[in-house]
This record gives sequence, structure tokens and C-alpha cells, in this order.
Amino acid sequence: MLRMVVLASGRGSNLLAILKAIESGRLSGQVAAVISDREDAKALDHARARQIPALWVNPKLGDGKAGYEQRLLAAVSACQPDCIVLAGYMRILGSQFVHEAGVPIFNIHPALLPAFPGLHAQAQAVEYGVRYSGCTVHFVDEGVDTGPIIDQAVVRVLPEDTQETLSARILAEEHKLYAQVLELYSQGRIRREGRRVTIL
Ligand code: GRF
Repeated sequence: MLRMVVLASGRGSNLLAILKAIESGRLSGQVAAVISDREDAKALDHARARQIPALWVNPKLGDGKAGYEQRLLAAVSACQPDCIVLAGYMRILGSQFVHEAGVPIFNIHPALLPAFPGLHAQAQAVEYGVRYSGCTVHFVDEGVDTGPIIDQAVVRVLPEDTQETLSARILAEEHKLYAQVLELYSQGRIRREGRRVTIL
């Protein structure tokens, strides 16, 4: 059983999708804790509603990014997870955190990386005029959305799409893809060699 710590900053729909996948038996795992940098994150409410430990780690205690990430790492490590799952966590993790975590860190991004990294990926795709976008689950490295790609789901961009309509269709794919990838990982079927990831 995969023991996950989920980091989330916002509404937590990907967290909910993961929890539902666990509840329905599609994902053999357990969310040990949900940790947020925002006290008012809806994701924390989703966790509390299920008696899952919900922690706020305040990034503004005056100890800088390094201090914050040390406190975050301590909170994560105390849960002894097999992996860390970023689900709408809106901060860039520093390289020290990434290296000291000692377990894989997964992220989901609402575009077909390496296209449109960073913020507002769906708006970037609409403005650029691509015909296809989608979502990507990848390992986290020191960069911004640059880690090795594990899997992607493609979404057709329609001529009438706005950022909102495209985001909604991508989000529906995110909710399926993230749980699928985590289940593959829990089955030991994801192998990483450098940038190349193989699904066994
Ligand atoms: C998702 O679009 C995800 O791809 C991105 O942040 C958003 C989080 O949404 N990294 P939610 O909080 O999971 O609803």
C-alpha cells in the first residue's frame, strides 16, 4: 500500500480524485497527511472531512524559503511516506528539499510538457493556438515543470475554447491520469533511468 503525503495550495480537486480512487479500490494507497502552505486551502477541508491529518505549514514565519522548506520537510518526513504528491501546490520546491526528501515527488501539470510550463498553462495553450493540449504527470526535479515525464493525456483544443472551457476538460483528464500513475507506481511498474521513464 502506497503511503502518500499530498501537498496542495488550493481547491484540492486532484486530491479528491486521488481519495476517490482509493475509496473505490482503483488505487492501492493511503493519504497519510495533506499539507498546505495556505491555511484556508480547501484541500485541508477535504482531508479533515475524512479524518486525514491536515497540516498548515506557514511559509511566512520570517525564516525565509530555506527555513520554511526545512519545516515542511520535517512535517512530511514525520509521516514516513513512500512518495510526495504535489496536487496544486503553488510553490517551487528548492533543490535542497527535492534532494533531502529521499522519496519520489510527483507533480501534475495542465499542459503537454515541455510545452507551456509554469503558471496559466491552459491560457498559454489557448493563446498560442495549439490544436492539442492536455496534462502531464512527472517526477519533480529542481526546475519548474522540468522533471522526467511519466505519462500524459491529450485533450483537443476547440476553436471556441477559452481558458475556462479548456481548463475544465483538462482537469477531467488530470483526475483520471494522476490516480492511474500513482497506481502504477504502487505496483512497482514505473522505472526511471535519467530522463527516460519506462512503464512496465
Ligand atoms: C491543476 O490544474 C494542476 O494541474 C495544477 O494545479 C491545479 C490544481 O487544481 N498543478 P486542484 O487544486 O487539484 O483542483
